[in-house]
Amino acid sequence: MSQLSPDVVVAPLLTEAAVSIRTADASDVERLSLYFTSLSITARNKRFMGARADVALLAAECVAKVGHPGHFTLLAEFRQQEGQSTIIGEMRYAYDAAARYGDFAISVADVFQRKGVGLRMMNAMERRAGDLGHEMIAAETARTNAEMRGLAKKAGFADTGLGDWQSVHLAKRLSR
Ligand SMILES: CC(C)(COP(=O)(O)OP(=O)(O)OC[C@H]1O[C@@H](n2cnc3c(N)ncnc32)[C@H](O)[C@@H]1OP(=O)(O)O)[C@@H](O)C(=O)NCCC(=O)NCCS
Repeated sequence: MSQLSPDVVVAPLLTEAAVSIRTADASDVERLSLYFTSLSITARNKRFMGARADVALLAAECVAKVGHPGHFTLLAEFRQQEGQSTIIGEMRYAYDAAARYGDFAISVADVFQRKGVGLRMMNAMERRAGDLGHEMIAAETARTNAEMRGLAKKAGFADTGLGDWQSVHLAKRLSR
């Protein structure tokens, strides 16, 4: 397995088959940590809604609740010719039983953005959440985060109006 090199400036052509999406487990912590390190500071700040340098801890948190009902982390991996795979995206999902909705956060490696990876992970998350019997997914993002707002809109999320001057609250009811 390999990791995204910081000097990768041109993303290889992404065919649908070259990218697979799977659930993360405890063995992914180190690779996930390297993935978070490889993100631009801007992307990482947007993903975590603030500056975070403790990437090892963030990666550990992503898989800490593996096996807990209602929690999962999805990884998007790019398969290279030599059979190696590289993490190019991640999404963490957590269900709040009291509020009765799932919450998520997502990122895609900078050079792989705007190639449909985010939307594929959103679709995979919705299928998984639906299988778990969840009826609503919601997320909060910065009002200035055009890419997340665009992705959520394309995935069928709507602004609930519950945000504030800094953030937007988005939600989608899953069809049964
Ligand atoms: C938000 C993010 C995950 C989107 O992932 P992505 O793989 O680039 O998204 P996709 O390629 O699947 O884009 C799907 C749609 O989202 C919208 N979108 C994506 N990037 C956009 C941008 N920069 N501006 C406006 N809309 C955008 C478009 O509608 C796009 O469809 P189109 O390309 O057919 O127009 C990615 O930009 C990212 O990692 N950003 C940094 C981290 C972050 O902001 N996370 C959200 C906080 S939880």
